[in-house]
Amino acid sequence: MTTHGHDVIVVGAGGAGLRAAIAAHEAGADVALVTKLHPVRSHTGAAEGGINAALRDGDDWELHAHDTMKGSDYLGDAPAIETLARDSPEEVIRLEHWGMPFSREDDGTVSQRPFGGLSFPRTTYAGAETGHHLLHTMYEQVLKRGIRVYDEFYVSRLAVTDHDDPAERVCHGVVAYDVASGDVVGFSAADGVILATGGDGQVYDHTTNAVANTGDGPAMAYRAGVPLEDMEFVQFHPTTLPSTGVLISEGVRGEGGILYNSEGERFMYERGYANNAGELASRDVVARAELTEVQAGRGVDEEYVFLDMRHLGAERIYDRLENIVHLAEDFEGVDPVEEPMPVKPGQHYHMGGIETDEHGRTCIEGLYAAGECACASVHGSNRLGGNALPELIVFGARAGRHAAGSDLGAAEVPTGPEARSEDETDLDVPVEPGAVGDDADVAADGAQLDPDSVLAHAVERERTRIQDMLDRDGTNHAEIRSDLQAAMTEYVNVFRNEAGLKRALAVIRECRERYRDVAVSDPSRTFNTDLVHTIETRNLIDVAEAITLGAAARTEFRGAHWRQDHQERKDDEWLKHTLVAWDGGDPDLYYKPVVLEGEDKEYEPKERSY
Ligand code: FUM
Repeated sequence: MTTHGHDVIVVGAGGAGLRAAIAAHEAGADVALVTKLHPVRSHTGAAEGGINAALRDGDDWELHAHDTMKGSDYLGDAPAIETLARDSPEEVIRLEHWGMPFSREDDGTVSQRPFGGLSFPRTTYAGAETGHHLLHTMYEQVLKRGIRVYDEFYVSRLAVTDHDDPAERVCHGVVAYDVASGDVVGFSAADGVILATGGDGQVYDHTTNAVANTGDGPAMAYRAGVPLEDMEFVQFHPTTLPSTGVLISEGVRGEGGILYNSEGERFMYERGYANNAGELASRDVVARAELTEVQAGRGVDEEYVFLDMRHLGAERIYDRLENIVHLAEDFEGVDPVEEPMPVKPGQHYHMGGIETDEHGRTCIEGLYAAGECACASVHGSNRLGGNALPELIVFGARAGRHAAGSDLGAAEVPTGPEARSEDETDLDVPVEPGAVGDDADVAADGAQLDPDSVLAHAVERERTRIQDMLDRDGTNHAEIRSDLQAAMTEYVNVFRNEAGLKRALAVIRECRERYRDVAVSDPSRTFNTDLVHTIETRNLIDVAEAITLGAAARTEFRGAHWRQDHQERKDDEWLKHTLVAWDGGDPDLYYKPVVLEGEDKEYEPKERSY
């Protein structure tokens, strides 16, 4: 069996993975990045708008924390939010020292612009391609340090012991399909595995996410026994191009771009959706406003609204938003210097993810998560624009340091079975879950094996699973994936109701059943993208089910989770995190309290308006 051994294995080489690897390396660990894409093809490269950090006089981390807590609709955990706000200035300055080409003012200072839901213009940026520069800057640091990168290795299983209680399990490594050789190989991790696999936007069919964003980390962690947290909270970005889902940055509105309906009304003000912040209300508010306009018959072509930046003038547009001009021209055939852009909401980001504390630890020893695949929880029920990139670098660095043995002190965000509150849901779902065979990701057989045997066992199981999919005749994953995406887009979108959510669950569970005899039609061993996509589709099913169960159970309206049949936020009943845990394929839904106690204050939930 081919096995590679390192102290720390980081899975995924986007912003969080690269930052985690650098931090672990600096803390003295032998680190390897194992990634299904070459690092600079990671989806972080598509991030446009910027990085929030309190850098200027008049701003401070406490204001950033306050905005983030309000933006979260009071579902974020204060210790995680305060960590983000406090650490992001130092991380941004570090990037600057590493050579990140931030946009600058005439006096040479780093520029910052307004973003939605911020009380101060604190979004630093590099044109409208901030993520691209972030990725390249950090990849240079990885190369400079000689950190080992295994690219085009698709990690598809964790090597975890099989104690009954997930909180007693230990993660010893990962198993990956080597795309170039076709081998299934093991990676042992003496000190820790950090999942940094990014988003899962491919659960939907209109998304800003890349095709590689398939929820691999959350699905693997879930099957290994780590709960997924607040999965019902999915962000729909208000300005995506209708025909492709390509992102048109919030930076356009930050620079002064205006939203109009088909009657030429600046509806965010004129229809009273956000009388103070207008287009710069938080994303959940703007996305709902746009769809409300469309449903009221004031949309364009019954589908979208207009985003207009012509008044900014060509010089400013090319100085600060050049990338937007190219995206609108290339993907929608519109020149935004001369005409307004058609835009509509599209899936963009997942607030929910793998439950972690603020050190990135999961309830399984040796298993960490950071970035979009994780839920620390910084964003609660709605993420503010510009808060994803600081999350990657702040929590990537923390996870890397902790995994490499640094002492970060006691964590304040509780995780694992012990955090469970007494609350139960009486969710009545008239569709049975369908477990997909015996495929929990633990070592199985009831034996508590030593680390090498746990890894060998996991490799063997994955080899068998893959060989079975290659050998048999059966259903093609693509049909399953497209039915899943259609149901999620129809029923688990910006607007939700009980009947639709139950319908979605029925479809998801049919997809599970159909996946039982899924077959890979391409028989090649090497560069078998059909095989990779088939494995991914299984992950999408698990993620979609967790999203939909959480959404069906949560009978309130909070942040990005709008329920037609439950139109208010209900703090008495619902000021709590949702957890979904794998219980032999029958998801166990439970809750834990939100931590509103910050460093020296308690955040008080207030009515949220912009
Ligand atoms: O609109 C944007 O540029 C996206 C930024 C973000 O999601 O933080």
